Amino acid sequence: MIPFDDRDGLIWLDGKLVPWREARVHVLTHALHYGSAVFEGERVYDGRVFRERDHAIRLQKSAEILDFEIPFSLEQMAQGVQELIQQNNIPNGYLRRIAWRGSEMIGVSAQHTRIHLAMAVWEWPSYFPPELLQQGIRLTTSDWVCPPPNAMPTASKAVGNYMIRTLSKHKAERAGFTDALLLDWRGNLAEATGANLFLLIDGALHTPTPDCFLNGLTRQTVIALARRRGIEVIERHIAPSELAAVGEVFLTGTAAEVTPVGRIDDRSFAVGALTRQLMTDYQDLVHASADDVVI
Ligand SMILES: Cc1ncc(COP(=O)(O)O)c(C=O)c1O
Repeated sequence: MIPFDDRDGLIWLDGKLVPWREARVHVLTHALHYGSAVFEGERVYDGRVFRERDHAIRLQKSAEILDFEIPFSLEQMAQGVQELIQQNNIPNGYLRRIAWRGSEMIGVSAQHTRIHLAMAVWEWPSYFPPELLQQGIRLTTSDWVCPPPNAMPTASKAVGNYMIRTLSKHKAERAGFTDALLLDWRGNLAEATGANLFLLIDGALHTPTPDCFLNGLTRQTVIALARRRGIEVIERHIAPSELAAVGEVFLTGTAAEVTPVGRIDDRSFAVGALTRQLMTDYQDLVHASADDVVI
C-alpha cells in the first residue's frame, strides 16, 4: 500500500496546486490537537464531482457549526476542484477536501487561527470489498452510540465525530465483520460508520431520522430515486427489534454508493430486487452528468 503522503500528483492547498509530497502541516497545528477540522468525501465520475456544490455548501455549514468560516467561495472551490481533476488526470476517483484551524494558537480558544483548505483526488474504485457486494456486507452493532446533538456537533462533518466510528469499525473488523452499525443515544438504529441505513419493510423503505448523525447527500439522492419509482419512503425512529420484519437492508454514502447488507449480527438478509434496482439507478444518475435529475 502506498502511503498517502508519498504519492505523485498535485494537491490544491490554500488556493494553489502544490506537489503532492509538499502539502504538509506543522505538528503544532490546532486541528491536530483539538479536532478543529471539517471535511468532505466526494466522488468523481466521468471527470466531474457528483453534487460538487452540495458538498461545498455542506463544508461551509460544517465549518460554521465549528465556529469558523471557509476563506474560499463556492466558485473558487468549484474551479479548484476542476483544475485538480484535470491536472491529476483522475476522471473517476475520490476527492477529499478538508478545512482546519492552523498554528497561530495552541489552546482551547482558537479565535485567531488562520483557516486552511486542502483538496486532493485519487483513484478509489470501491469502498467495501467488491466481492462482498454480491451477498451483502456484514454489520455488527457497536457499543458506541451516536450522541445527542447537544453533546457533539453531530450535524457537522467534523473530524471529532469519527473517533467513535473508527473505534467501532476496528472492533467490527477484528470480529470478522465488514463494518459496524451504530445505534443512537436513545437506542434506535442510526447508521454505519460512514454511511446511512435503509430498510425495506412491507414494500416501503424506512430510514432513521437523521437528527444526531449526517443527513447524507447520497441518502437524499436515494430517497428521491426511490420515490421516483413510486416507492414510499418513511423517515422515522426505528427500534433494533424491528429488524425481525425487514426484507432488505442497504447503506448509502458517497464512498459506499448503494451497498447491500447481508447480515446484521446473527440476522441474515437477502440482497433483493429493490436494492439491486437502486444500485443501478444510482450508477445511472451519477454518470448522467446532471445533478438536478432528481434533486
Ligand atoms: C458518518 C457518515 N454518515 C453518513 C455518510 C453519508 O454521507 P454522504 O452520502 O453525504 O456521503 C457519511 C459519508 O460521508 C459519513 O461519514
